[in-house]
Amino acid sequence: MQATDNRSAEIFAEQRRYIFDCVRPLYAEPLAIAEGSGCRVRDYDGREYLDAFAGILTTSLGHCHPEVVAAIREQAARVGHLSTLYVNDRQIQAGRALAEIAPGNLSRTFFVNSGTEAIETALQLARLHTGRTEIIALRQGYHGRTSMATAVTAHAPWRVLPSTVTGITHALSPYPYRAPFGDRTDEELVEIYAQDLIEVIETTTNGQPAAFIAETIQGVGGYIVPPRGYFQRMAEIVRSYGGVFVSDEVQAGFGRTGRHWFGIEHWGVAPDIMVMAKGIAGGMPVAATIATPEIAGSWRGKTISTFGGNPVCMAAMVATLGVMRAEDVPARARRRGAQLRDGLEALQAAHPWIGDVRGMGLMQALELVEDPVGKEPAPRLAGMLLNAARDEGLLIGIGGLHGHVIRIGPSLLISETEVEEALDRLGRACRTVEANRRLAGQER
Ligand SMILES: Cc1ncc(COP(=O)(O)O)c(C=O)c1O
Repeated sequence: MQATDNRSAEIFAEQRRYIFDCVRPLYAEPLAIAEGSGCRVRDYDGREYLDAFAGILTTSLGHCHPEVVAAIREQAARVGHLSTLYVNDRQIQAGRALAEIAPGNLSRTFFVNSGTEAIETALQLARLHTGRTEIIALRQGYHGRTSMATAVTAHAPWRVLPSTVTGITHALSPYPYRAPFGDRTDEELVEIYAQDLIEVIETTTNGQPAAFIAETIQGVGGYIVPPRGYFQRMAEIVRSYGGVFVSDEVQAGFGRTGRHWFGIEHWGVAPDIMVMAKGIAGGMPVAATIATPEIAGSWRGKTISTFGGNPVCMAAMVATLGVMRAEDVPARARRRGAQLRDGLEALQAAHPWIGDVRGMGLMQALELVEDPVGKEPAPRLAGMLLNAARDEGLLIGIGGLHGHVIRIGPSLLISETEVEEALDRLGRACRTVEANRRLAGQER
């Protein structure tokens, strides 16, 4: 595809006039995207890219899936907005579809418009249900942008104001690659994290927690995967102190991690409350808090979300889940994820600055380090790789506390050939980084 003009730069100049400066696009020379279809997007200058980040794991069926587009069109022409003051079949269909795939006895849903709001709902619900206030979250976790969601988030760059929300503490991140205790088995690590949680409860709370909240894979943190046995133990501990376990599936949900619908199912734990967003509706703004009937029933006071359960968004969600089931996306994500993982491990074998390859299914990351022994985070290399991949026509994401982790999370319908193509392009980008690194005389 030939470039026709320089529309991307013009559009970004306009963005800077009208949009908050804090809305920061990914690249130093931002990419302005005009259209997308499946795993491909095209910028305003006509250049095509293979999208391996899916709008932050959100266009779960690729861009503009025809069944989702048709459902949106059909519903928008029928009735576009009602508010929760009225009942509409679409919201019920969406709730039923979620209850059918959610683990355990999670069957009652409250719909909102963003992951942040769904987190807020979950934490307020946990407090209402237990009659307690203290919440334990994890370091390196990310849960959103309101005051409460930021307070449970544990990344300084995302906590722009000092927190004024009380009753929140953070336990150790279950981050095996950077565990400060040397090489340990999963069982030993789980015990260390378990003892830490117990100590956090007994020393930094009043001993009566309302909830423990965690992402099943820490997404913004750089796809940190807790060790085997971790959630079983953590849920058991928080429940033994009378609190509930809230699982944040905003990134890991809807088949993303392969084999199961939700990340937490890999640990065989049914949460008390679960939060979902991102991939739930193929890119439309939907988020959900699901709970057991007993817990959901603890919210007796008034509440409303004007746009929550909006019929057009619900129609998109019902269509998205319909396609996900028909295509068996958990099985697809497992197969394509294994293919992607093999390719990433081959890149690691060729480049010592790829310190860790981790993830599950189609949620895979490369942690970049200055050297594999010292493991000093290498945000500069991550920036170079991000840009080199773009030059190769490949979109990937970045994360980690220091911005040193490359995140990959394409459409769950990505094909075998597209995964191969993504790996080829990423391989060429890695070789560019390697060459620049040598040029800069930084090879060890
Ligand atoms: C794990 C997790 N929870 C919650 C959120 C907040 O979602 P939103 O940006 O839709 O408010 C995010 C967003 O990235 C997330 O990754």
